[in-house]
Amino acid sequence: MTIDDIKTICVIGAGTMGHQISLCAALSGYKVKCTDISQEMLDKAGQFARTYLPERVAKGKMTQEQAELGLANLSFTTSLEEAAQDADFIIEAAVEKIDVKRQLFADLDRIAPSHAILATNSSFIVSSKVADATRRPDKVCNMHFFNPPLVMKLVEVVQGNHTSPETAQITMDLCEKMGKTGVWLKKEIYGFLVNRILAAINHEALFLADIGIASPEEIDTAVTNALGHPMGPFRLMDMTGIDLSYYIGMELYKETRDPKDKPSPLVVEKYAKREWGRKTKKGFYSYE
Ligand code: 3HC
Repeated sequence: MTIDDIKTICVIGAGTMGHQISLCAALSGYKVKCTDISQEMLDKAGQFARTYLPERVAKGKMTQEQAELGLANLSFTTSLEEAAQDADFIIEAAVEKIDVKRQLFADLDRIAPSHAILATNSSFIVSSKVADATRRPDKVCNMHFFNPPLVMKLVEVVQGNHTSPETAQITMDLCEKMGKTGVWLKKEIYGFLVNRILAAINHEALFLADIGIASPEEIDTAVTNALGHPMGPFRLMDMTGIDLSYYIGMELYKETRDPKDKPSPLVVEKYAKREWGRKTKKGFYSYE
C-alpha cells in the first residue's frame, strides 16, 4: 500500500482535536467520516465547519471552491460501523482513557478493511498500549496533532516496535498531504518530543503559581514577553484542557511512581471543580 491508496479517512471523536483534524483532512481532498458517541458534539463540529469555512473565504485565505470541497468531503455519524467500514486510514481522537481506546481499537480492527491503518492522536498513550487489542499491530501507530490542528504545523508520527516502517511512512506521507510537517520518532517514549518539553515548562510554571511567587496571569505575561511564545503556559493549558493535564500527570505518575510527576495541586483543584479551561468556559481564565 502507498499514500495514493488512501482515499477515505475516518476520525474518531469530534472533540477539541477531532473536529479540526476532520476538517483539515477534508480540505486536503480526502473523504472524511467523523464519528462520535455524542450527536451534540457532531452537530457542533458541523456548525464549526459551516462557520469557519466562509470566514476563511471572506478573509481571502481560501477560495470558495476549496471551502465547498471541504464541506462536501465531510460527513458525520454516531455509527462507528458506518464511519469505519470503508476507511483506508483511521485517526482516533477519542477521550484519553486507555480502556476506551483499547475497546475502540478492538472494534475498529473488526469493522475496518484489513488494509486500513489505525492511528491514535493520543497525547501520551503510546500505540503499543492499544496495538495488541488488534490483529494488525503492524498497522498501528501514533499520529499526534497539536491544538488547534488547523493551525499548528507539526505532527508527531511514532513508530512502535510493532509498527511496520511502511505504516509509519504512509502516515508521514499523509501528514504532508494534509499540509503538515511530520516528525518521525522511531522509538516510543512517553510524551513524545513536544509534550515532554511542554511538561517541563508547565511543571515550573505550576510550581511558581502553587507556592505563590506569581499569579498565572503574571507568569503568562512573563513567558509571552520574554520568550516570545504566542501564549503563556496557563492560557495554553486552558486551550488544550486542564483535564488533559490532569490525566497526563496521573498516567506519568503511574509509570514512574515519582511524586514530582503527579498533577500539581492547582491542576488537581481545577480538575475537581470541572474548571477545565475553554471547553468548560472557566479554567485559569474565564471565557464567559
Ligand atoms: N481554530 C482554528 N484556527 C484558529 C484558532 C482555532 N481555535 N485560533 C486561531 N486560529 C487561526 C486564526 O484564524 C488566524 O488565522 P490566519 O492568520 O490565517 O487568519 C491565526 O490562527 C491567528 O489567530 P489570532 O490572530 O486570532 O490569534 P493568535 O495570533 O493569538 O493565534 C494561536 C492563536 C494560533 C492559538 C496562537 O496563540 C498559538 O499558536 N498558540 C500556541 C498554540 C500551541 O502551543 N499549541 C500546541 C499546544 S500542545 C498540544 O496541542 C499537544 C496536545 O497533546 C495537548
